[in-house]
Formats: sequence, C-alpha cells, structure tokens
Amino acid sequence: MALQLGDIAPDFTAETTQGTIRFHEWIGDGWAILFSHPKDFTPVCTTELGYMASLAPEFARRNCKVLGLSVDPLTDHERWLDDIEETQGHRPGYPLIADPERTVANLYGMVHPKALDTLTVRSVFVIGPDKTIKLMITYPASTGRDFDEILRVLDSLQLTARHKVATPVNWRRGNDVIIVPALGDDEARALFPNGWSTVKPYLRVVPDPSA
Ligand code: BEZ
Repeated sequence: MALQLGDIAPDFTAETTQGTIRFHEWIGDGWAILFSHPKDFTPVCTTELGYMASLAPEFARRNCKVLGLSVDPLTDHERWLDDIEETQGHRPGYPLIADPERTVANLYGMVHPKALDTLTVRSVFVIGPDKTIKLMITYPASTGRDFDEILRVLDSLQLTARHKVATPVNWRRGNDVIIVPALGDDEARALFPNGWSTVKPYLRVVPDPSA
C-alpha cells in the first residue's frame, strides 16, 4: 500500500556521496527531508540541487537534515556535484543516495511509470523526530520545485507540533495562527491567556506563539 501521512518512514541502508547511511540512525533526534530527482546532468535537477544547497543554513537552523536521491550511480553523483557548484554557485553539502537498483525509490513510491518510465519523479518527504511522515509532495519531472515552500511547511510542522494551533493559507513564520478547532474555549483560555480574536466560533486567531 502507498505510504500515507503518519506512517513510519521506511528505514533503509543506502550508499551516498557521504558514505553509507542508515536512515533512522542518520535522522537521529531531528527532522529530515528526503527528496528524489529524476536524473543527474539534467537542467531542472541541476537548478534544484543547487538551490537546495543554498538553503543549507536554513534547514540546519531548523534541526533538519537533507538527503537527495536518484537512480544514478555514485560516480555520476560525484562528477555532477562539480557542475552544480560551477553553474549554481552552491555545492550540495548534503548527501545524495545512489539508488541504481531503485530499492529506496520503490520503498517510498518514487517511481511513477505512467509519468516517467523507470526514473524517480520529484518526490519530497518530510520526516519528524518520531520517524513518521509529516508531509509528502510529488511533482512531475518538467516542474522544478519551490524549496522555499518546503521551508515554509517545515516551519508550520514544527510550530504545530509544539502548540495547539494550525496555520492559515499562505502563512509565514511570525504571522497570526489559528487555534485548533478541537480545543474548546475553556482549554484555549489556559493555553492562550492573552486571548484571541474570534472571527467565527470556529475561526479563532492568535499571534504566532513562537514569535
Ligand atoms: C530536468 O531535470 O531537466 C529533467 C529531468 C528529467 C526529465 C525532464 C527534465
């Protein structure tokens, strides 16, 4: 059955540009992003991996490790890193899995043969410290991802893991948030003693509690 939100992220051992990784052990107590791309030495993937490299300090600040994957061999990955650095100005400091047998790709359902025969599509998984899947997004090969959006979602995931809030449309860190509907007003008063703004009884707005 296909993976779903809340499932334990399948564990695996894989060869990467930074040596052998045992996934759950590598994640440790933090967060992780596992993302696939279709093919090394292709234009969109080159821009994506370079941009992801430029965001490394942002992911580190959020205690989130990044791990890339494609079905290309390690020798290709290593040669391609030079091209990424040369053309995008950033060399990926995160590891890239070489998955020529598609072992990890199949575990995570990253090959969608009706869209792209034997290669991985552009999948993104965000995994929490409890090793469960918090987010899954799939893009076609023709569309480069917006990795700023992944950072935005990570901010929301981390905030909503700590506080009984949800984040509204187009939310950014520091913007107001919404008290979760499951929390009654009496419980909410204890958690948000400064009160909230009631737009509708089901739409109660409070400042970002982490700001
Ligand atoms: C690309 O990264 O440019 C790409 C890869 C596979 C199919 C189409 C585009």
